[in-house]
Amino acid sequence: MCGIVGYTGHRPAGPIVLDGLRRLEYRGYDSAGIALFDDHNELYVARATGKLDALLQRVEGTLPPAISGIGHTRWATHGEPSDRNAHPHLDPGGNVAIVHNGIVENFEDLRLRYARGPFLSDTDTEVLAHMLATRLESGDDLLVALREVVKEAQGAYSIVAIARNEPGRIVAARVGNAGGIVVGIGDGEHLLASDLSALLPHTRNVTFIEPGEFVDMHADRIAFTDAEGATITKRIEVLPYDPVAAVKGQYKHFMLKEIFEQPDAALDAIRGRYLTRPPHVAFEGLPLDEARAKSLTRVVLVGMGTSMHSAMVGRHYLERFARLPAEVDNSAEFRYRQPVLDENTLVVSIAQSGETVDTLAAMDEARRAGCLQITLCNTPGAQTTRVADGTILLRVGPEIAVASTKTMLASMLLLHGLALHIGRLRGTLDPAVEAQQIEAALHLPAAIGEMLESAPLIEEIAGRYAQDEDFLFLGRGLGYPIALEGALKLKEVSYIHAEGYAAGEMKHGPIALIDEHMPTLAISPRDEVFDKMRSNIEQVRARRGRVIAVVSKGDRSLVGVANDIIELPEVDPLLAPIVTVVPLQLLAYYIATHRGADVDQPRNLAKTVTVE
Ligand code: AGP
Repeated sequence: MCGIVGYTGHRPAGPIVLDGLRRLEYRGYDSAGIALFDDHNELYVARATGKLDALLQRVEGTLPPAISGIGHTRWATHGEPSDRNAHPHLDPGGNVAIVHNGIVENFEDLRLRYARGPFLSDTDTEVLAHMLATRLESGDDLLVALREVVKEAQGAYSIVAIARNEPGRIVAARVGNAGGIVVGIGDGEHLLASDLSALLPHTRNVTFIEPGEFVDMHADRIAFTDAEGATITKRIEVLPYDPVAAVKGQYKHFMLKEIFEQPDAALDAIRGRYLTRPPHVAFEGLPLDEARAKSLTRVVLVGMGTSMHSAMVGRHYLERFARLPAEVDNSAEFRYRQPVLDENTLVVSIAQSGETVDTLAAMDEARRAGCLQITLCNTPGAQTTRVADGTILLRVGPEIAVASTKTMLASMLLLHGLALHIGRLRGTLDPAVEAQQIEAALHLPAAIGEMLESAPLIEEIAGRYAQDEDFLFLGRGLGYPIALEGALKLKEVSYIHAEGYAAGEMKHGPIALIDEHMPTLAISPRDEVFDKMRSNIEQVRARRGRVIAVVSKGDRSLVGVANDIIELPEVDPLLAPIVTVVPLQLLAYYIATHRGADVDQPRNLAKTVTVE
């Protein structure tokens, strides 16, 4: 969960940047760094592995009186946590310093093409400094150089740069939906940061940088432009003195904020775990080695509600990659069924809160039977993590809305990672598949970001269905758990009666409900069961049912058949559920807001269910 800070103004930049980094500490990090060009145009850089105190010790008594600077807290993705991999990164001549949050997907290719000298780090970031320096040397303005560099650097990220001979100037860009940047407008000074917490001590006048936007700031002036260099007029928001509203930022509800945080959630979940050299997935502190993984005969996944839907997706991954028979159980059913378990059974529990009483009871049952237990949880130190033999933390930051969104996305993704990890240990995973899946997962933050660009369309579609009182969600294969989740989300936040079904089941009962008052959302990407989904859609239409189809990018075949179409971005078919869930969350959210429902705290629901 990298954090970025930048300051330009009339006060000494160093302490302000360091204080900003302190305020971003909660995001989690493994190293930190700062870069300043001082009054004499000399570059000052300090980096340190570990906590911020290590960096503070390193800079003590040496910070120059610079008027602008940038800082970074790093959570490793490419390259281990170390001083040399910590940001800021420089070009070999020390003319440019950059900090970056996100993933540059094609960095290896860029390294081959644009190296100006040896690389001093293993990061995907450093090459961007080389590229910027080359452009500056050829006469480009700093902002123009940044614009050209990000055109070539694929992925979803934010980047901030400073350069020699440009005292007091900071440029930044946001590419794709990962790596948010918020800019603070102060009195004779400007700041930027990954989130509001670093800005609030200095100003309450802020504006949020959207994907594709650039900012060019000096102490006394600031300009915003788009990817073509055209000027943008940004709305400056004055934050209220309400800490909760401040945390909500530009979003009306936490649910929407958390939906939009999902590119970062995906990134934070896989950071330091999905590794490329060599391709493998690694988790810290899991009680699994080759022998233990090979001794397993079966996996049981347990969870409640949304977490159980994640488990249903995870089951596909464990069967496919780890070649283990896998089953999913509702925790509350599992505990009372006297399930057959032994020490060769792996029980994987999913509970974002880590306190769900039924899941804890299921884990007790598994413990009594001597099963090996791994839990997925978003709350460090929660009860499930104390019971399990090993924990995979979701690492997506607090989820405030009662309806789970980003925690589900991270759970699905990390079950994918767990299955790859176990598959490798058991020798059941083809290395080529492993490499391909890791690469595909690293593309997810960008794909989820692209999906979020459909939010205005989904809001418009939601308006057409907000008055309906019943809804059907259909999916097949990996789309089935997502259909269940779409129905659950809609029920929870809009109070519309919704049912999720495996599409093949439709003719066995639910079809009796279909008429013009019962719309159907059909998850129908171009996969091996597409033709069957298409038949289901035709059957609904033949009964005057309205259909919203979620289709693969560019698929026009349901135009004129479905009433509304939502296109998915390009994504690996196995990872599709992790993206497909996003438009369903948005649909539920917008329908609920149309109906004036209390989205963040729906009636009767609790975020953490600690009673049976
Ligand atoms: C999700 O939107 C719901 N609030 C609910 O189904 C939730 O997923 C369930 O209560 C499980 O919670 P947990 O992940 O904390 O165990």
